[in-house]
Amino acid sequence: MPLLEISNLSAAYGTYKVLENINLSMERGEVVSLIGSSGSGKSTLLRVLMGLLKPNQGQVTIDSQAVNYGSRASLKGIRDRMAIVFQQYNLFQNMDVLRNVTIAPVEIKKRPKADVEREAKAILDRVGLSAKLKSYPDQLSGGQQQRVAIARALALKPEILLLDEVTAALDPELVNEVLDVVGQLAGEGITMLIVSHEMSFVRKVSSKVVMMDKGQVVEIGTPEQIFENPQEARTKEFVSKILRH
Ligand SMILES: Nc1ncnc2c1ncn2[C@@H]1O[C@H](COP(=O)(O)OP(=O)(O)O)[C@@H](O)[C@H]1O
Ligand SMILES: [Mg+2]
Repeated sequence: MPLLEISNLSAAYGTYKVLENINLSMERGEVVSLIGSSGSGKSTLLRVLMGLLKPNQGQVTIDSQAVNYGSRASLKGIRDRMAIVFQQYNLFQNMDVLRNVTIAPVEIKKRPKADVEREAKAILDRVGLSAKLKSYPDQLSGGQQQRVAIARALALKPEILLLDEVTAALDPELVNEVLDVVGQLAGEGITMLIVSHEMSFVRKVSSKVVMMDKGQVVEIGTPEQIFENPQEARTKEFVSKILRH
């Protein structure tokens, strides 16, 4: 039984159809990567899943429970089960690292502060930041800040972690420290839906790669199938372009 199942999902910005008939499923522990040109709808798909844009057709089920994107209670349920990290890390500049990671579980989820802090310290250790608990965002590199943002998402104990180009804003020498953390989380069995242009990373961590184009899923396969033996013309073209250098 898939943890996440997306069926015939469509969405629009006004009259502009941005996602058309998306079908995709993910098992628990899988890492699925979305690839495709800029504007193909990858971010929009993550936004729809998080309830940030209402779909106009189709269904999403988590653990066989249908999500009702029109209902506040159902949306709240979604945000208990999925967390998203964006390219821009958006940390609270006036709070130290530990507070950035603990504030949502304590203030929004009303969990006991001592428990949350203990868990947050363990998570920050996993992302290699146990020495930075008292640092403020402007005292950290971009890679460290993005790792705080990942820790903040993990502190919400999501069943599925969504990552939208989390290394795209980083200087090249900081990309690997973030990808290493994401790769480690994959190894720990965290279920992730990833958008990334780091193709060698996508190839290494993904159980499935989803090629998107013009708001549609063009092809789904293992990394080997997509990168070495793509079947669809649009996948062939995309893969040949990105692997040329
Ligand atoms: N807020 C918005 N309003 C209108 N159109 C948008 C908005 N956000 C994205 N789009 C359009 O939707 C399409 C898909 O965008 P997006 O999901 O961001 O693609 P990707 O993440 O694959 O680059 C693009 O044509 C983009 O211009
Ligand atoms: Mg995007």
